[in-house]
Amino acid sequence: MVIICPKCARKHKVNLDMIKSHIDSGKTVSATCRSCKYKFPVLVDQLVDSPPPEKAGNKVQARKICVTLSKGGVGKTTTSVNLGAGLALAGYKVLLVDTDTQGQSSYILGKKPKAGLTELLTKELTPDECVVQARKNLWLLSGGKSLAGVKRIIDRKSFGAEWTLAEAMKPLDHQYDFILIDTSPGWDQLIVNVLFYATEVLVPVALEVMPLHGLSEFMKSLGSIQKYRSEISLKYIVPTFLDTRIKGPQRLYSELKKLYPEYVCTPIRYSESLAEAPSFGKSIFEFAPGSTASADYRELIRKVTMDETALV
Ligand SMILES: Nc1ncnc2c1ncn2[C@@H]1O[C@H](COP(=O)(O)OP(=O)(O)OP(=O)(O)O)[C@@H](O)[C@H]1O
Ligand SMILES: [Mg+2]
Repeated sequence: MVIICPKCARKHKVNLDMIKSHIDSGKTVSATCRSCKYKFPVLVDQLVDSPPPEKAGNKVQARKICVTLSKGGVGKTTTSVNLGAGLALAGYKVLLVDTDTQGQSSYILGKKPKAGLTELLTKELTPDECVVQARKNLWLLSGGKSLAGVKRIIDRKSFGAEWTLAEAMKPLDHQYDFILIDTSPGWDQLIVNVLFYATEVLVPVALEVMPLHGLSEFMKSLGSIQKYRSEISLKYIVPTFLDTRIKGPQRLYSELKKLYPEYVCTPIRYSESLAEAPSFGKSIFEFAPGSTASADYRELIRKVTMDETALV
């Protein structure tokens, strides 16, 4: 049985036999959430066999998380790929969508797909022909240079340009548990399209130079999108490049936690392994499973899935 914390929605395993006699005898049993420390009474009807899935019709709707920040080199692609690879290892079906002309997701996963997001957006191929399997449970809709041409096509549309991606992705929406969308740095029509498609936003923030400025600028841009699309919300701020040997990044991390306590996740520490893994075409779990970076991304996976037993 599983109980869901009413405050932070984290799932915890519960042994029903151990508490049933207390509940049956009319005693109040209370629980403390191991994640947010919230104390709450346990009621029998709060216990569920498995977490309730989000349904659309009778098909399960994927959680659509975009990984984005206008500032370059903050760990967007590294986080998208390793979050995707980890979720896949935890048993979820994941589609990783690369909307960047740099096309690095395929490189990091050691793949050279013949088709990808460009062919999906131009309708040259069917959605299933555009997606390639990268690992068990992990599929890829690759980006690359050809997306530059697609951006021009979107720009020239006179009506509904911002929904181009959402419309093209529709046939894929119900085939996965998670759809992760990596974006390029900067701000363009394709990023606006991503924000009109995703429902959750994950922002990696490098604990290096002026991270808060980039974040507050992004919050303003997100706010302007939310005026037209209320379904999208900021869910996670993931501090990256935390160097525990020096004080500056720790101070920036504390500042972030004070400003955005409900969104800030456990940081991803600075790790040579993360910088090396891409040239071997491997995720961090394949390249250095015992590294601090692997531990940090596993923690992020537990946070995103709200399952404290994932990849333990
Ligand atoms: N925690 C980390 N420790 C050390 N190196 C890292 C870490 N995270 C990412 N890197 C490395 O930093 C570089 C930039 O990371 P990444 O490509 O993920 O950033 P990005 O935000 O996607 O960049 P861009 O804006 O250009 O798309 C890469 O070489 C990556 O391997
Ligand atoms: Mg990138």
